[in-house]
Amino acid sequence: MSDPLLLSPITLRGLTLRNRIVVSPMCQYASKDGAPTDWHLVHLGKFALGGAGIVFCEETAVEERGRKTYGCAGIYDDRHIPAYRRITDFIRSHGASPAIQLGHAGRKASCGPPWTNFRPLTEEDAAAGMTPWRGVSASEIPAKPGALTPIQLDEAGIEEVIGSWRTAAQRSIDAGFEICEIHGAHGYLIQQFLSPLSNTRTDAWGGSLENRMRLALRISEEIRAVWPEDKPVFFRVSAVDGTGGAWDMDDTVALSKALQARGIDVVTCSSGGINGPLNMAVVPRVPGYQVPYAERVRREANIATCAVGLITEPRHAEEILHAGQADLIALAREVMVDPNWPVRAGRELGKEDYLDVLPPDYAWWLRRREEIRRISNV
Ligand SMILES: Cc1cc2nc3c(=O)[nH]c(=O)nc-3n(C[C@H](O)[C@H](O)[C@H](O)COP(=O)(O)O)c2cc1C
Repeated sequence: MSDPLLLSPITLRGLTLRNRIVVSPMCQYASKDGAPTDWHLVHLGKFALGGAGIVFCEETAVEERGRKTYGCAGIYDDRHIPAYRRITDFIRSHGASPAIQLGHAGRKASCGPPWTNFRPLTEEDAAAGMTPWRGVSASEIPAKPGALTPIQLDEAGIEEVIGSWRTAAQRSIDAGFEICEIHGAHGYLIQQFLSPLSNTRTDAWGGSLENRMRLALRISEEIRAVWPEDKPVFFRVSAVDGTGGAWDMDDTVALSKALQARGIDVVTCSSGGINGPLNMAVVPRVPGYQVPYAERVRREANIATCAVGLITEPRHAEEILHAGQADLIALAREVMVDPNWPVRAGRELGKEDYLDVLPPDYAWWLRRREEIRRISNV
C-alpha cells in the first residue's frame, strides 16, 4: 500500500522534505533584543521531534524598526546568527527542514503583544524602557486609530529597506536555514505597498497594480539572488484583504504569476491584515477557509502552494493534497495542541510505519507498546 500523500516526501529544488506537513510561523514575543532564546529552542525543537517536514521560525524582522514589539524576533544584526544556528542545527538533526520567515512590520510597529490587542506603545511604556517608535510605510496612514503616523519611505529609504531584506537573507543562510519565506501578508510592510488602501503614492511605487507590486517583486528578486540555487523560497500572501478591503484574488493571481517568473517556489495563501471602508466581506472562519485561494493560485499561476488556516484533521489535509488544491499543508494552533500531529496523521491515515517519524528514543518504546497491545489483542 502506498503512503498517504501527506506523509510522503516532496522535493523542492534540491531539498527533499520527509513529508508535506509544515509548522506555520508563530510569533512568540519571547525574543531578547531580537535574538531567539531557550524558549524558541524548546518551542521549535519539539515540532522537529514530532515529525514535521518543515519547521518555520516566527516572522523575523529584517530591521530593528521593523519589529512589532520589543519581544519580536529579528535577524538585523550579525550577533543574532549564533542563537538561530543552535536552533536550526537541532531541527535539522531531527529530520525536519529549518525555515525562516523574514518580515517587516512597517506601520504595524511599536505595539504591545497580542494579549494587549497590539495596543500602540505610549509614553508610559517609555518609562518602563519600551520607547515607542514610528514605523515606516508606503504612505503616512496609521495602521489604526491611536497608532503613530508612519514615516513615508522615500526612494532612498525604499532602497535601504530592500537592502536589509537581502542582508537578512544572507544572515539566515549563515544561521543554517534551508527555506526562506518572504512575509508579504497580514498587513505588514509589503502588503502596505500592495494594497491601495495603505498605499496612496503617486510615484513609481504606488498607483497601478504594477507599481504597488514593485516592492514585493524587488524584494523577491533580491532574496532569490542570494538564496542558494538548490533551496526554495516561499512567499506568504494575504490572498484577500480583511473586511472592507480592496486587494482581491485577481490581484493575488497576478502577483503569484510575477513571483513564479522570478523563481519563487511556493506561495502560502493566508488572508486579511488590512481593513478598509469598501464592501469586501470577512472570510468565514470554517475549516480550510483559505484552501480555495491556494487552489486557484496553484491552477492559474502554475506555482506550488501551501494551504493554511483551520486545517486540523489528517483526512482533510490528505484530501486537499489529493484534490490538487495545494502541495503543502501548514498548521499553527493545532500543533500547539499536539506537536506530534504527524504521528497522529500517520496512524489515522493508515501509514504502516507511522512511528518511524519519531526519534528512536521514543519510537522504540511506542513500537513495543503496539506489539504488546497486538499480542494481548487490546
Ligand atoms: C501564536 C501565533 C503566532 C503567529 N505568528 C505568525 C507569524 O509570525 N507569521 C505569520 O505569517 N503568521 C503567523 N500566525 C498565523 C499562522 O501562521 C497561521 O496562518 C494561522 O494561525 C492559521 O492557521 P491555524 O488555523 O493552523 O492556526 C500566527 C498564529 C498564531 C496562533
